[in-house]
Amino acid sequence: MVEKNESVTIAVVGSGYVGLVAAACFAEIGHRVVCVDNDESKVRMLHDGGVPIHEEHLPELLSRHRGKTLEFTSDLRAATQSAQAIFIAVGTPQSQTGSADLSYVDAVASEIARSMDSYKVIVEKSTVPVYTNEWIRRVIERNGVPKDLFDVTSNPEFLREGTAVVDFLHADRIVIGAATETAADLLKKIYLPLTSGSYYNVVGSVPGPRTNVDPPPILHTSTKAAEIIKHASNALLATKISFINVVANICEAAGADVEEVARGIGMDTRIGPKFLRAGVGYGGSCFPKDVAAFRHVAEQVGVDFGLLHEVEKINEEQKQRFFQKIRSALWTFRAKKIGVLGLAFKGGTDDVRESPALDIVKKLLSEGCVICAHDPAAAGRCKEVIPEGPTMRYVDDPYAAAQDADALLILNDWQEFAELDLAKLHYTLRYPIVIDGRNLYDPTTMTNAGFTYLSVGRPGLTQPLDPVSAFFLPRRRDGAKA
Ligand code: UGA
Repeated sequence: MVEKNESVTIAVVGSGYVGLVAAACFAEIGHRVVCVDNDESKVRMLHDGGVPIHEEHLPELLSRHRGKTLEFTSDLRAATQSAQAIFIAVGTPQSQTGSADLSYVDAVASEIARSMDSYKVIVEKSTVPVYTNEWIRRVIERNGVPKDLFDVTSNPEFLREGTAVVDFLHADRIVIGAATETAADLLKKIYLPLTSGSYYNVVGSVPGPRTNVDPPPILHTSTKAAEIIKHASNALLATKISFINVVANICEAAGADVEEVARGIGMDTRIGPKFLRAGVGYGGSCFPKDVAAFRHVAEQVGVDFGLLHEVEKINEEQKQRFFQKIRSALWTFRAKKIGVLGLAFKGGTDDVRESPALDIVKKLLSEGCVICAHDPAAAGRCKEVIPEGPTMRYVDDPYAAAQDADALLILNDWQEFAELDLAKLHYTLRYPIVIDGRNLYDPTTMTNAGFTYLSVGRPGLTQPLDPVSAFFLPRRRDGAKA
């Protein structure tokens, strides 16, 4: 039984989106943390005060704890020996077959085993298929570590990029997959400041939905159940998105508004309103990879999970449909100048992995368009994939992206994209055409503001409904209006 807050010495292996956020948050709730990465330059950057990813609250947590209870190193051996719990948060990329490539997990487990000199709890934090826990155990035993000197547990993360710190510190639930009470107790001790609610009374604690009277619950399961919970959660969320995207396509054909339909569906408490936003399809480093990996797990255990095939297929088709929508508005593409708002796979992050926005931009470039793009955080990472050049420019504000463009595309959901000055935008564009892949605007407002406005799952309106206000729209000097 764990009753009072005590500091635990923790090693977190991997300083990517998951590892770095987890390390900073563990330090924030009072533990001593060493974050390990084999990329020396990243370790140096973190040590020297750098923040390698765009994540709200992360800079403040790093500066609060760096050099005090949060250290960065490339020495896994020393980190293992000093730690009571070692969290593995290395990448599990998608292999050619769609399964998760676990070679980084394997390599780290072997190195941990070779460094162990006392009882350790090893915690899988990376998203891994069921049975990975068993494999880590076998790898450690093969390296000569006696069974009673370690436990392997699973503690999946449910962090969304962009809100990862709040998701960690104000979690919906904390899942602990552990076979022994000793290991489960150590994990419970680590999370006690959250589960007891004491963290939320601390002055300067990161604000969020949880409070000291409504702290996150712990769910203690088997290790296999914990592994499946993680994959199944992401697969179900991706299924919700593909489902609403198909409903959006039906709405579009029938002349209904998917936002109204989603609201109506989501008011059923059994369904819930979240993850019912229609758009250009899901992306990111998790859903595409995890849906494929879970489908692969099902295949391996002899279960037909054809539903997930459909989810993936719908997601691909959704991007193509959006592309056709752009074509329907512009007719031809060669030398057309297109403004793009949003490059990351969603707003609030700089991550462009599996970004639907990038797929659409690449396709437009291949058809001869000239793109001028803005994303508040992701331009730097995007340049590594699509370098700046005569047909691809990156600019620092939305109006610069729209300047003299034949159309403006909205491809992710940064809040600032939903708050544009419509009169200014109208004046800036060469033709007032906005094609919104995230439904950030009300079609009637856009039409009344003089735009040809196309969105997802809502009737496209091209004529101003209110001719009086349309008459007073600012006109460009060259008169180049549609
Ligand atoms: C996702 C899960 O939400 C997290 O719980 C999980 O921990 C994480 O994966 C992971 O496995 O590491 P994330 O990929 O950061 O988090 O982003 P989400 O907010 O889930 O969005 C994923 C994609 O779905 C984005 O492209 C987003 O724009 C899209 N989306 C989301 C929609 O198209 N519609 C929605 O209603 C919601």
